[in-house]
Amino acid sequence: MTQFKIDILEGLKANQKRLSSKYFYDAHGDELFQQIMHMDEYYLTQKEHEIFENHKDKILKTISDGEPFRIIELGAGDGLKTKVLLKHFLESGADFTYTPVDISGNVLAILEKSLKEELPNLNIEAYEGDYFDALAEISESPEKDVVFFLGSNVGNFSHEGAVSFLTNLRNALKPSDLLFMGVDLKKDPSLILSAYNDAQGITREFNLNLLDRINRELNGNFDRNQFLHYPYYNPHTGECRSYLISRVRQEVTMAGEAISFRPWEAIFMEISKKYDDMQLDLLARESGFELVKSFYDQESWFVDVVWGSLG
Ligand code: AVI
Repeated sequence: MTQFKIDILEGLKANQKRLSSKYFYDAHGDELFQQIMHMDEYYLTQKEHEIFENHKDKILKTISDGEPFRIIELGAGDGLKTKVLLKHFLESGADFTYTPVDISGNVLAILEKSLKEELPNLNIEAYEGDYFDALAEISESPEKDVVFFLGSNVGNFSHEGAVSFLTNLRNALKPSDLLFMGVDLKKDPSLILSAYNDAQGITREFNLNLLDRINRELNGNFDRNQFLHYPYYNPHTGECRSYLISRVRQEVTMAGEAISFRPWEAIFMEISKKYDDMQLDLLARESGFELVKSFYDQESWFVDVVWGSLG
């Protein structure tokens, strides 16, 4: 049985139904996420871009004293924002290698091609595979590694999930290595909600696409019209959670198994957690990091932090 099938069936048989947002990213999901990053409402990409444009020189000085280093970018995607930094680092004469890590060879091939065209002097060593396999290799490299984990990808973990992921990351690092991480911050809840409930319905489509994927890959019969997309932001915890809610009583089959839904029963799809400085400090300490420097956009909607190993 594939891991996809195991996880989907386990999630839908649970008392509180859930699906993992890591399965959003099939080929169509990748395209939808690209569209999301270009939406007006999705401020995260614009803000991180602004931070890179405004602070690229200070970022370089914070991550390197002039010694050679390697950038390892976890979940590089199309690398659009990262290019701003890579270009500046090259123009400043920094001595570095860029290692984008992605599970999708297709995504990496597209990224490598565009980087070779736009930044022909860039030294790229792409890594196709799981983050943790990539991290296992990090500890074996002699040079200084700077791990990039951008775009508030950390927000797709619960607090405990983030602590466990970052602790594993921290354990893979050498004492002088650094983490450079983009984190979305708490702000006016209406801004957050519209980023996850856009007027064109692209985010709704992004969620429903997982039902289509299940239909295709597990021979399922989800009727996407019978599900309502419902994002909900809790300003106390900073968690924006997305649900698909069954409008009616219904039975859906997939992989030869029947799953029943009561009217208005929800499937928890995704968490996109927003932090404040205090929660971020706690996350650093609990996962064995300490803050080296923070870079904010002008409205303090988003932050890119540089963390080093504690002690
Ligand atoms: C990839 N990740 C940081 C995005 C987020 O904001 O949680 C995924 C996303 N989901 C809906 N819109 C974007």
